[in-house]
Amino acid sequence: MLGNFTYCNPTKLYFGQGALDGLKNELPKYGKNVLLVYGGGSIKKNGIYDKVVQILKECKKEIFEDAGVMPNPTTEKLAEGCERAKRAKADLILAVGGGSVCDYAKALSVSVNCEEDPWEKYYIRFEEPTCKLIPVGCVLTMVGTGSEMNGGAVITNHAQKLKIGHVFGEEVFPKFSVLDPEFTFTLPRYQMVAGIFDIMSHLLEQYFSGTDDNTSDYIAEGLLRSLIRSAQIAAENPTDYEARSNIMWTATWALNTLVAMGKTTDWEVHMIGQAVGAHTDATHGMTLAAVSLPYYRHILPYGLAKFKRYAVNVWSVDPKGKTDTEVAEAGLAAMEDWMKKLGLVMNLTELGATRDMIDGMVKSTLIMTGGYKVLTEEEVRQILTESF
Ligand code: NZQ
Ligand code: ZN
Repeated sequence: MLGNFTYCNPTKLYFGQGALDGLKNELPKYGKNVLLVYGGGSIKKNGIYDKVVQILKECKKEIFEDAGVMPNPTTEKLAEGCERAKRAKADLILAVGGGSVCDYAKALSVSVNCEEDPWEKYYIRFEEPTCKLIPVGCVLTMVGTGSEMNGGAVITNHAQKLKIGHVFGEEVFPKFSVLDPEFTFTLPRYQMVAGIFDIMSHLLEQYFSGTDDNTSDYIAEGLLRSLIRSAQIAAENPTDYEARSNIMWTATWALNTLVAMGKTTDWEVHMIGQAVGAHTDATHGMTLAAVSLPYYRHILPYGLAKFKRYAVNVWSVDPKGKTDTEVAEAGLAAMEDWMKKLGLVMNLTELGATRDMIDGMVKSTLIMTGGYKVLTEEEVRQILTESF
């Protein structure tokens, strides 16, 4: 049965070629001081930085910068950013980059005026913000996380070997996001396909849970089919605008809360993937790619009907003459084939992990209860071992 829910997504999107002009509508709504947040410099090489700065100047903004946000942003960087944002008296945080930059901007938003240690408050105790927030806007340059239209902010604490996401409420969602698919054309292939798998994983985490018949799962199936097709086209021709724009739009819908409405969700792949990330600092989407098939093959018997439905509705497996288990397994085999053709990382060794990290990764894995099987520590260890 479709459960009760309240749905609100307050992020305004500007999508398509030339979408950056949307900034001219949005910037006048905020005070003069803008903290421009970005990563390691890709936006300077591909010209996006110059375009953004030109519009900020046209809108008579005072620009303060917080550069060098690393993939998988850290607690140390967050502390540094809080100081910069305070000195700038920032009225708006403008994130220009991928999920790491957007997540970091949201974490800054809730941390700058927080009187406690933000890591303890938001990532260990999972409390909601009680301080004054700084509004966030995003210009997205890397597709995958859905951070452009959600309240997620994942932060890594290397000292504690933990990578944790807090999903904040609608007051922390970006006020606006600019999505121009052409801004993603300069992404290295590795990042493009990692992002594609991140999208697939978001959809599957929400799909593989529950046994009821609900509309959210049908929406997820449609998004998965679009993603699978567009990914194949983009892998052949990365500058195919139609495919890249479809992938960008799918990413947003995969994790802007819609497909989770009225149903339970799993998220165990992300918990194992984040544990791998905490120990290796590997690219998020690739950590998910390396652990997904061992995880899904492990839980398949507990969610057989849904895995069968996935095979038939998403991968067009013909069920005739096959047992339910054979159909379900054929779906995962089709997924594996698609993953290999995209060039995804299929094991943890390629991500720099070694077997002596397994115990630590098991300890860093949070156990979720919404999937088809609540894992024991031993099962997490088995799945990680099979991922090598
Ligand atoms: O730092 P720069 O130089 O910009 O380079 C980045 C980075 O090295 C590069 N890049 C981005 N746009 C580019 C580009 N290079 C060339 N051209 C462009 N147009 O790509 C690299 C990866 O960027 P990053 O932002 O780290 O990737 P992604 O978007 O995958 O974000 C990953 C982070 O998001 C979190 C992950 O855990 C990870 O920390 N997640 C956030 C979620 C959310 N908010 O809901 C959910 C996700 O499951 C995920 O956990
Ligand atoms: Zn993800």
